[in-house]
Amino acid sequence: MSVKKIAILFSGTGSNLESLLKNLHGKKFGSTTIKVALTITNNPNAKGIEKSRAYGVEPTVIEHTKFATREEFDAAVVKEIEKKNIDLTVLAGFMRILTPVFTQNIKAINLHPSLLPLFKGANAIKDSFEANVDRGGVSVHYVNDELDGGEIIMQETLMKTPNMSYEEFEEKIHQIEHAILPKAVISLLC
Ligand code: GRF
Repeated sequence: MSVKKIAILFSGTGSNLESLLKNLHGKKFGSTTIKVALTITNNPNAKGIEKSRAYGVEPTVIEHTKFATREEFDAAVVKEIEKKNIDLTVLAGFMRILTPVFTQNIKAINLHPSLLPLFKGANAIKDSFEANVDRGGVSVHYVNDELDGGEIIMQETLMKTPNMSYEEFEEKIHQIEHAILPKAVISLLC
């Protein structure tokens, strides 16, 4: 039996953080048990903080505003992850651009609400909805030096239907996110 430790980085609501905790934390998959050993947020007001606490994991708050450069912030995050011997770091709604200080030292995956390589960046759901394409979707990919540009691990498609409102589209994207991210973590660790 082995225990695999994950770290989760988040910035806001934390619904994906919650889904990871609910579906993975302390659970056994084959002979592997997954443990959420660390959660980190850059935002002291993130709603996800309470969600993490509800699962007995006290989040580490590292405020990016307290660092002069992105590199110094990233170094502080890397230090926390390395202290805990984490097997895989998961970016779940973590809204910071990471530098090579992070990307070249930490094995990490990211959740992105579009069918990459289409619609990179912070407005992917809206961009996918408004574009003249018949589908959107969700991607899980490795984190590398290029924003939303690392190797794709898993994707799921959401077809647009006639008269679908933006709210419906967004809600469905979030439902897919909540299912695909735990699935991707299991596929990598178990
Ligand atoms: C998700 O849609 C994620 O893909 C995006 O930001 C959102 C975070 O939601 N980058 P939450 O904080 O996990 O609820």
